[in-house]
Amino acid sequence: MTNHNNLDKETLENDKLMKDHEYDGIQELDNEMPPFLRIIFYVTIMISIAYWCRYHVLDGPGQIDEYKAEFATPAEEGEVEEKEAPKAEAVFVVMSGAEDLAAGKKLYVANCLACHGKNGEGNTIGPNLTDDYWLHGGTDADIYRVVKEGIPLKGMIAWKTQMPPKKMQQVTSYIISLIGTNPPKAKKAQGELYKR
Ligand code: HEC
Repeated sequence: MTNHNNLDKETLENDKLMKDHEYDGIQELDNEMPPFLRIIFYVTIMISIAYWCRYHVLDGPGQIDEYKAEFATPAEEGEVEEKEAPKAEAVFVVMSGAEDLAAGKKLYVANCLACHGKNGEGNTIGPNLTDDYWLHGGTDADIYRVVKEGIPLKGMIAWKTQMPPKKMQQVTSYIISLIGTNPPKAKKAQGELYKR
C-alpha cells in the first residue's frame, strides 16, 4: 500500500515537471540541473571572462608569440646579440676549402655561365670576372654585395632571392678564385682597376 502511495506521489510530481512535448513516445522532465554540473558551468563562464580580459583586453601573449619564444634563435634572445647578428652576415670571408670551391663552381655553371661565360671570361651580356677591372668595386665585399644585391637595372640578378647566404658565399669565392686566370676569348676590361 505504501508502495502504491509513493508511486502516486511520484507521478504527481512528474506531471508538474513534465514538459509538454513528446517525440515518439519519449517525454522530458524539467529537472533541476545537478549542483556539481551547475558549478562547473559557472566556473567555465568565469574562466572565459578571465581569458577574455587577459588575451583580448590586456593583449597577453598569443600562439605566435609563444611559438617565437620557443624557437627563438640565440640572436633573437638578447638585445646585444640582436645588434651584432646582421653584421655577421654582411662580413664576407672568402672560402678557400676545396669542397666550397667545388660547390661554388657547380653553382656558377648552373646560374652564372650564361651571362659571364664558361670560365668567367664574360660575353655580350655580362662582364669579364677574371680581370682586375670592376664596374662595382673589386674588394671581396664589393663582389659579394653585387652577387647578393645584384644590379637589377643592368641585368645582374640579386641572388639573395634565389640562394641561401652559404651558396652565395661559395659562388662568390669561386669567381674570386678565377681572378687572374686569363681565360681565352676574354672580354675587354670594363670599369676601374683594382689590384689585389
Ligand atoms: C642574366 C644575366 C646574368 C646572370 C645570370 C648573372 N649575371 Fe652577373 N652580371 C650581369 C651583368 C649584365 C652585369 C653587369 C652589370 C652592370 O653593367 O652594372 C653583371 C655583373 C656582375 C658582377 C660585377 C662585375 C663588375 O665588374 O663589377 C659580378 C661579381 C657578377 N655579375 C657575378 C655573377 C654571379 C656570381 C652570377 C651567378 C650566381 C651572375 N653574376 C649571374 C649579368 C648576369
